[in-house]
Amino acid sequence: LGFLFAYLGDGDPPAFPMLDVFCGAGVRVSSSYVRKSNYFNSVENGCDWIHVFFTHARSGFTTSGVNREIPKVWAEETEFGIAAHQRYSDGKVGTTFILMPLAMYIMGSGGQLASTGELMPVHQIAWRVPIDDYSHRSFNVHYVDLFGSDADRYREARAASRAKLKDMPSQSEVVAAIFRGDLHPDEVDETRPDIVGIQDSVTLEPQPPLSERPPDRLGPSDGPCILVRRIYTREVRAFASGDVTKAWVWPPSLQAVPQV
Ligand SMILES: [Fe+2]
Repeated sequence: LGFLFAYLGDGDPPAFPMLDVFCGAGVRVSSSYVRKSNYFNSVENGCDWIHVFFTHARSGFTTSGVNREIPKVWAEETEFGIAAHQRYSDGKVGTTFILMPLAMYIMGSGGQLASTGELMPVHQIAWRVPIDDYSHRSFNVHYVDLFGSDADRYREARAASRAKLKDMPSQSEVVAAIFRGDLHPDEVDETRPDIVGIQDSVTLEPQPPLSERPPDRLGPSDGPCILVRRIYTREVRAFASGDVTKAWVWPPSLQAVPQV
């Protein structure tokens, strides 16, 4: 995957939870970044599909059709965490996952097949690992089923994106300029490869941890967020009182469902 995972508990390490789809022979890209927000804000953001319509209005989510409307959302607890669904009026239902305790898995589209022009699904998993109460590091893996010259073109496109960013102000500089009031979020170059990350940082970083802000007044569109809060509350209470916590199981065959 491009990362080292360490087991810091007592006794033998448990089986490593992983999904088969990220272990294929296609293109796998790993990356990481620090976001100055509590890790739980990002965990919650990972199942809040409603934010995509607003926060990422100027992004590939709109050009790809994901933001064609605000979907109806709902979620249920599963053996691995949360399955969050998004239903659109055209009948399409997307599904994203929270993989307990702190990973999320969504599917986008990206690499193109030269033979047919078809856009291939890009599977995206991210672990939101706490640094302290006000920051976390996200470890991300993207996987796409591309091979041979298709894989080479995808890698070249990603390399070109990274090169383009080198000539631009850094993401943290852009976010700081917005917080100073020197730049409006709508003035950020929409073609920046990291536009989605900038938009998430602008919305997430000013929010203190849940414990330090007044209770939210959540509504039906916050259903998945309500569920993740309930599960965390239940599990942390069980852990604090020495009770048995839920043994989460990631089914190896699990696959997210795209919204378009
Ligand atoms: Fe986002």
